[in-house]
Amino acid sequence: MKNIVLIGFMGTGKTAIGRRLALRLNRKFIDTDLEIENITGKTVAQIFARHGMIRFRSEESLLVQKLARQEGMVISTGGGMVLNPENVRLLKENGILIGLEASPEVIFKRIRNKKSRPLLMKGGNMMEQIEGLLKERGGAYDVAEYAVDTGAFPLEESVEKIIQYLKEKQYL
Ligand code: S3P
Repeated sequence: MKNIVLIGFMGTGKTAIGRRLALRLNRKFIDTDLEIENITGKTVAQIFARHGMIRFRSEESLLVQKLARQEGMVISTGGGMVLNPENVRLLKENGILIGLEASPEVIFKRIRNKKSRPLLMKGGNMMEQIEGLLKERGGAYDVAEYAVDTGAFPLEESVEKIIQYLKEKQYL
């Protein structure tokens, strides 16, 4: 049984939807950011602050190598996970990639009061940072075989859409 892997930019609902999807499908749930925090004993923000982004990216790659050997899970990934083509290759090996999308406005509303995202905590205008990073990442999230705009539907409906897609394709 393949993993179901949620990818997408920060604030697109990967963790919330992944958790719900796992419950609905009675599967184990893994959030790569939370898993890295458990493994390292540090928060994502602390890893960025103390060791830098490159170190965080290597923690992500190490974790993906481990996850690629497991099956049947729902995996929510950090927003930068798919920037590394090798991570995408490994995740695709035994996983179905589902993209979550949202407009910059929706992303901004969801994350403006959170302090856990170092890439958007650089001071200055957060909306501009979101738009800049989205643009910089271009089509990075297009590796998903199906995508849902999570700003357009309530959480439960996004989950339902994903389940419908998986059934249609006979993944479930
Ligand atoms: C990042 C997204 C974050 C986290 C880290 C870097 C990114 O995950 O992995 O702050 O580069 O987009 P979320 O997408 O869960 O916020």
